[in-house]
Amino acid sequence: MNRSSLNFKRFAFSIALFVALSFLTHSSEAYDPLDPTGNITIKWDIMQWTADGYVGVVTMYNYQKYRHIQPPGWTLGWAWSKKEVIWSMVGSQATEQGDCSKFKGNIPHCCKRNPSIVDLLPGTPYNMQIANCCKGGVVSSWIQDPPNAVASFQISVGQSGTTNTTVRAPKNVTLMAPGPGYTCGPAKKVPSSKFVSQDGRRITQSLLTWNITCTYSQFLAQRTPTCCVSMSSFYNDTIVNCPTCSCGCQNNNTNPGSCVMGNSPYLQQAINGPGKSTNTPLVQCTSHMCPVRVHWHVKLNYKDYWRVKVAITNFNYRMNYSQWNLVVQHPNFNNLTTMFSFNYESLVPFGTINDTAMLWGVKYYNDLLMAAGPSGNVQSEILFRKDPEAFTFSKGWAFPRRVYFNGDNCVMPSPDQYPMLPNSSPRLAQRLVNTIFVACLSLTSMLILRG
Ligand SMILES: *[C@@H]1O[C@H](CO)[C@@H](O)[C@H](O)[C@H]1NC(C)=O
Ligand SMILES: *[C@@H]1O[C@H](CO)[C@@H](O)[C@H](O)[C@H]1NC(C)=O
Ligand SMILES: *[C@@H]1O[C@H](CO)[C@@H](O)[C@H](O)[C@H]1NC(C)=O
Ligand SMILES: *[C@@H]1O[C@H](CO)[C@@H](O)[C@H](O)[C@H]1NC(C)=O
Ligand SMILES: *[C@@H]1O[C@H](CO)[C@@H](O)[C@H](O)[C@H]1NC(C)=O
Ligand SMILES: *[C@@H]1O[C@H](CO)[C@@H](O)[C@H](O)[C@H]1NC(C)=O
Ligand SMILES: *[C@@H]1O[C@H](CO)[C@@H](O)[C@H](O)[C@H]1NC(C)=O
Ligand SMILES: *[C@@H]1O[C@H](CO)[C@@H](O)[C@H](O)[C@H]1NC(C)=O
Ligand SMILES: *[C@@H]1O[C@H](CO)[C@@H](O)[C@H](O)[C@H]1NC(C)=O
Repeated sequence: MNRSSLNFKRFAFSIALFVALSFLTHSSEAYDPLDPTGNITIKWDIMQWTADGYVGVVTMYNYQKYRHIQPPGWTLGWAWSKKEVIWSMVGSQATEQGDCSKFKGNIPHCCKRNPSIVDLLPGTPYNMQIANCCKGGVVSSWIQDPPNAVASFQISVGQSGTTNTTVRAPKNVTLMAPGPGYTCGPAKKVPSSKFVSQDGRRITQSLLTWNITCTYSQFLAQRTPTCCVSMSSFYNDTIVNCPTCSCGCQNNNTNPGSCVMGNSPYLQQAINGPGKSTNTPLVQCTSHMCPVRVHWHVKLNYKDYWRVKVAITNFNYRMNYSQWNLVVQHPNFNNLTTMFSFNYESLVPFGTINDTAMLWGVKYYNDLLMAAGPSGNVQSEILFRKDPEAFTFSKGWAFPRRVYFNGDNCVMPSPDQYPMLPNSSPRLAQRLVNTIFVACLSLTSMLILRG
C-alpha cells in the first residue's frame, strides 16, 4: 500500500467517523455537531413588584460559538397568558402599540397580546439605555466577542399579578434573528439570579427568574445557500470555481433582475432601487450567484511547512458583513503554526479530533467585509506544520473538508474536481472508487447537517 492511499484511508476514516457520530447524536433536531450545546438563553428576571405588576430585566445570552445576529437584528416575541400590558421599556421597544383604548390618563407602551420587541439603535439617549442595549439588535457570537454576545432590556409590566404565585411567564416565545431558524422552549423557573455590587461587597438577587432556551436549525431557516468555495494551487493551473448555480441560477427569463453586472452603468441605481429598505441581497452576476465566495489557495510548499491563502469575497452590493466569521475543517488544523491577520480559535467538536477552526477578522482592521466592489474582500494566510504521517498534496488533501460563513454551510466543489497533482496518476479504477466513496460520504453528512 503506498503512502497516499494510506492517507486517503485516514481521510475517509475521519469522514466516516464524523458521519457515524452525527448519526449517534442526531436525537435533537437542531443539533449542530460543531457546536453541540449552542443556544440562545433568555433570562427573565423580576426585580421589583409594582402596584399592578413588576419591573423585569430580560437578558439574551448568545451561547453559540460562531453564529451571531447580524443587522437588521433580533426580534423577540411572546404571548401573554393574562391581560398583561407593557407600561414602559428601557433599552428596547415594542414594534406596535396595539389597542390601548381602554386606558385613560396613563397610556401603556404596548397593549398587544403578542408583543414583538426590537432593540434600540446605537446613539439612543442615555436616559433610555441600560447595559448591553441599543446595538440595533446585533449580537456577537460567544467565541468572537463574549462581552457583546449579550443583549438586554428592562420591561415594566402591568395587570400581571404581583406575587410569585399569581404572575405568569411569557408563553410561546419566538426569536427572529433576523429571519426564522430559532425554536424556543417554554419558560422554566430557575434559581434567582444573583447580582454582585460594583465594589463586590454586596449581593442582591431577583425576586423570580425564568429561563428560556432557543436553538437554531438550518433546516428550519430553510435558507438557500449563501456562500460557496473555490480552490486553486501552486501545483496546478486550474482554478476550480464554485459549482455553477450554488446559490441560484442566473436566468433573465424566469428570474429577471436577480443580479447586476459589476460594470453596469445602472449599478448605483440598482443598489438604491426597490429592496434597499428590506436589505434584499443584490448580487453581482456570477456563475454561482452566491453573495459570498471563499477561496482557498494552496500557495507554497516548504520542507516542514506549507502555506495557504484564504480570501473571502463579497458579491452582495447591499451588505457590509460586520463581525463575519468562518469555520473551516481541515485535518492539518491540529498543527497550525501561524494565522496571519485573522483571529483564530480551534473548535474541538469530538474531543480528540482537533481539525476545525473558527477564523474571524481583526477588530478595526478587517472585521468588516465591505459590500461588493473593489474593497469587498478580506484575506489572510495560514502556515501549517506538516505532519509527516498525514501530509500530502495528492487527492485534494490540502483543501478544506467543510467551510461555514457566518454559520451557514458553503457549497463545495465535488472532490473529483479538486486541483490535482500533475504527477499523481493512481489507477483509474481506484480513483473512481475513491471518488464515489468520498462523494457518498459527503452527501450523507451534508444531508444529516441539513436535516
Ligand atoms: C446553553 O448553552 C450553555 C453554554 O454553552 C450551556 O451551559 C447550557 O447547558 C445550554 N442550555 C441548553 C438547554 O442546552
Ligand atoms: C401558544 O401556542 C399554542 C399552540 O399554537 C396555542 O394553543 C396557545 O393558545 C398559545 N398560548 C398563548 C398564551 O397564546
Ligand atoms: C414564592 O415566594 C415565597 C417567599 O419568598 C416562597 O416561599 C415560595 O416558595 C415562592 N413560590 C413560588 C411558586 O416560587
Ligand atoms: C439560566 O440562564 C442563566 C443565563 O444564561 C444561567 O446563568 C443560569 O445558569 C440558567 N439557569 C439554569 C437553571 O439553567
Ligand atoms: C441578465 O440581465 C442583466 C441585466 O439586464 C445582464 O447584464 C446580463 O448579462 C443578463 N444575463 C444573461 C445570462 O443573459
Ligand atoms: C458599508 O459601509 C460603508 C462605510 O462605512 C458605507 O459607506 C456604505 O454605505 C455601507 N454599505 C451598506 C450597503 O451598508
Ligand atoms: C488544536 O490545535 C491548535 C493548533 O495547533 C492548538 O493551539 C490547540 O491547543 C489544539 N487544541 C486541542 C484541544 O488540542
Ligand atoms: C501535530 O499535532 C499533533 C496533535 O496536536 C501532535 O501530536 C503532533 O506531534 C503534531 N505534529 C507536528 C509535526 O508538529
Ligand atoms: C489540474 O487539476 C485538474 C482538476 O483536478 C485536472 O483535471 C488536471 O489534469 C490537473 N492538471 C494537471 C497539469 O495535471
